[in-house]
Amino acid sequence: MSYVLNQFVGNVAAPPIAESALWLEGNSSNLPAINLSQAVPSYLPAPELAEHVAQCMKDGSANLYTDILGIPPLRDALAAHMSSAYRGSVHHDDVAITAGCNQAYCAAVTALAKPGDNIILPAPWYFNNQMWLEMQGIEVRTIAAINDNDALPRAEHLAAVCDDRTRAVVLISPNNPTGAVYPPALLDEFFDACQNLKIALIVDETYKDFLDPARAPHNLFARDNWRETLVQLYSFSKVYALTGARVGSLIAGPQMIEAVEKVIDCVAICAPHTGQKAALFGLQNLDDWKQQKRLMMKDRLDAMSMAFAKYASDYRIVSSGAFFAYLAHPHVNHGAREIAMGLAQQSGVLTLPGSMFGPGQDGYLRLAFANVDASLMEDAAQRLGRYRPQA
Ligand SMILES: Cc1ncc(COP(=O)(O)O)c(C=O)c1O
Repeated sequence: MSYVLNQFVGNVAAPPIAESALWLEGNSSNLPAINLSQAVPSYLPAPELAEHVAQCMKDGSANLYTDILGIPPLRDALAAHMSSAYRGSVHHDDVAITAGCNQAYCAAVTALAKPGDNIILPAPWYFNNQMWLEMQGIEVRTIAAINDNDALPRAEHLAAVCDDRTRAVVLISPNNPTGAVYPPALLDEFFDACQNLKIALIVDETYKDFLDPARAPHNLFARDNWRETLVQLYSFSKVYALTGARVGSLIAGPQMIEAVEKVIDCVAICAPHTGQKAALFGLQNLDDWKQQKRLMMKDRLDAMSMAFAKYASDYRIVSSGAFFAYLAHPHVNHGAREIAMGLAQQSGVLTLPGSMFGPGQDGYLRLAFANVDASLMEDAAQRLGRYRPQA
């Protein structure tokens, strides 16, 4: 090779979902594959949304660049939605529309930290969070996300890993990979700790639409001073089944939004216009449809819990919610990667090994149970229950 690649990128592990998909190619079970690896909705977008986007393409209202921070009606609608869902105060100017939540995260990190700074990720983490930090030369510091008998990080653990180069802590609720839903009081504690430490609190709420809308997921947007500390990330990918439309958001105070505008301008100019039209249509028209999907996910979670209790009770469900369950597997002398590969190849069930989500996770598997119909849960649990690692 005649040129030199960035070693920071070279050091990062290969994209985990793509790697795990290969394991299923060796499925020798003669059983149809059950893919519980990636968090992709198993249903189509609402037909009226699809019609609307097609019409926008035909009439020329979605084919050009938009404002860098997104189309004004979408920023307005999302600000109104968040204000109402969180019983708080979010304005148009607080909102940046991004090409998916991953881009929102990358933009936030780029705005906050330079090489040599550090950011705290509770472990297990969402692997793309860690990968981006490593590529940027930003040190990853960790606190435990699984403590005693719950999958909740503790705010009081922050101070011990913070120094004057710490820029942020990243929380995800409902969590990927554990499914844990962080109680509002826990988010309050993290907010207060971050204020004291003068670092940002990044909260990724990609899966918030699968929570009961009767209660606000947290109370942070109701605080007068939320813009000093909070950076909220969100995705339109999941509940609206728009993973390919690439549309998400970042909500923060004015200095962060100003910085993020520069980042988005360089990496994408704007989020896809069609995706923004789809997101706006969803926010304005699909509340009932969204609730149906939430209830469907709840049914899938209930079906999974019952099936595991019946057929695979030696896999302990450490936590679960929204899209994911995190299981402690019973094969204590075998690593999670070996188990996940073995399950794919001998049983045709694709899960992800805990080891893809950070240090100390070899005893766990992640199941994206929301990918498959409730009727398949018994089959999946039976196959896990029968599985024995090869000696
Ligand atoms: C926690 C979390 N954040 C962000 C994303 C990516 O969202 P988007 O499709 O909007 O980039 C995912 C996707 O799996 C996720 O689990």
